[in-house]
Amino acid sequence: MRDSESKRGAPMTNEVPVIAVDGPSGTGKGTLCSYLAKKLGWHLLDSGALYRVMAVAADRHGLSPDNESSLAELAQGLDVRFVHGGDADAISVILEGENVDQAIRSEECGRAASVLAALPGVRAALLARQRAFRRPPGLIADGRDMGTVVFPDARLKVFLDASPEERARRRHKQLMEKGFSVNLAQLSADIAERDARDSQRAVSPLRPADDAIVIDTTDLDIEEVMDNVSTLVNDHIPAIAHKPGD
Ligand code: DC
Repeated sequence: MRDSESKRGAPMTNEVPVIAVDGPSGTGKGTLCSYLAKKLGWHLLDSGALYRVMAVAADRHGLSPDNESSLAELAQGLDVRFVHGGDADAISVILEGENVDQAIRSEECGRAASVLAALPGVRAALLARQRAFRRPPGLIADGRDMGTVVFPDARLKVFLDASPEERARRRHKQLMEKGFSVNLAQLSADIAERDARDSQRAVSPLRPADDAIVIDTTDLDIEEVMDNVSTLVNDHIPAIAHKPGD
């Protein structure tokens, strides 16, 4: 393992294994990451939720995206907790003492998160918070820059992709199931706009790490994705002690 220090001074030497899962929305990252975290008994970082919470907090504090220094300050001291419910899948997000599970899942919140996520000050302020999720026995990290910036020494880096049409269709289904009423054509346009912003920003753009394994999930169902990645996990991290029954 490399023992260098990152440019920002965070220690990179860390024995706790990380599996980084990056990609745009609608590729099945969230489902895959929950599955892996449960199967391996590892911690889970949903970094998108952190950016979404920032968007809700910015709105509540009346901060617009052109107020980068105040937003960075807010991000630095953000009072957010990720609380495990009884069910291993259920993690509630508590912002300033209030449950924001529903508020952070809307498409509007995703768009606002993507705007704030382009600000270098906000990203820098959230870096240490994301790295603090790395605790034994391991971490599944879900995001856009997990393999490139946040955990460049991840033991396995997976980048999920799919055609824009298929991703819009999946997001539409997911949002409807969560009780949001969305129009597919509008959603496709929003996703295209968000993809462009996330992949063209100057800091930590959405892209596969050089050593990531890219999986096109367009023609795969989620079980096939989970099987493919489970095989990769076994190949790359053979020492993992699977939970009994797996
Ligand atoms: O994965 P998501 O849809 O919940 O993410 C919402 C937005 O947050 C996404 O459009 C871009 C931003 N994001 C980011 O810039 N970096 C991450 N690691 C995760 C999310």
